[in-house]
Amino acid sequence: MAMNKAKTKAFVSDIDNIRRRARQNIDDGAMTAGYSADRAVVVDMLNQALATELVCVLRYKYHYYMASGIHSQAIKAEFLAHANEEQGHADLLAERITQLEGKPNLSPVGLLDRSHADYVEGKDIVDMIKEDLVAERIAIDSYREIVQYIGDDDPTTRRIMEDILAQEEEHAEDMATLLENLGAKGEPAAPSSH
Ligand SMILES: [Fe+2]
Ligand SMILES: [Fe+2]
Repeated sequence: MAMNKAKTKAFVSDIDNIRRRARQNIDDGAMTAGYSADRAVVVDMLNQALATELVCVLRYKYHYYMASGIHSQAIKAEFLAHANEEQGHADLLAERITQLEGKPNLSPVGLLDRSHADYVEGKDIVDMIKEDLVAERIAIDSYREIVQYIGDDDPTTRRIMEDILAQEEEHAEDMATLLENLGAKGEPAAPSSH
């Protein structure tokens, strides 16, 4: 318990500092002097993630409207759910960018260049799901890198990215399951291989 006490003491003495600093530069809103990340870099990374999400919204929407075939109803529902969740991610990122006093880049000009993931229409439903899985895997790797880059410098942005990352992993799993159900995962199913 002595350890806890020491911890509390140090914390209280810090609070005085935090209170004093909070009164300075109140125009900075949520940005305080304790923020140790490179804000321009973080905003830039968030804008790339934002572009990635917007491209994913458009790709899933295209797949939603274009999916056809006997399995299409359940798969369409999945595409639509993902499109809506990607839009939710885009909103979280845009909101965070404004908290960091950046501007969310919602311009359609150069959107695909800013995005990590591609916009691929896909020639049939299996192809669409495969492209979505590829895009999710790209998002997973690039978001993980962002989380690692941020480290302890900006816990709020890191938490947002971690939450989004967790959902992209679910999306990838969903797409992999759909492929499996369609008997289309990876190589053509070979009954003796495993
Ligand atoms: Fe997303
Ligand atoms: Fe996703």
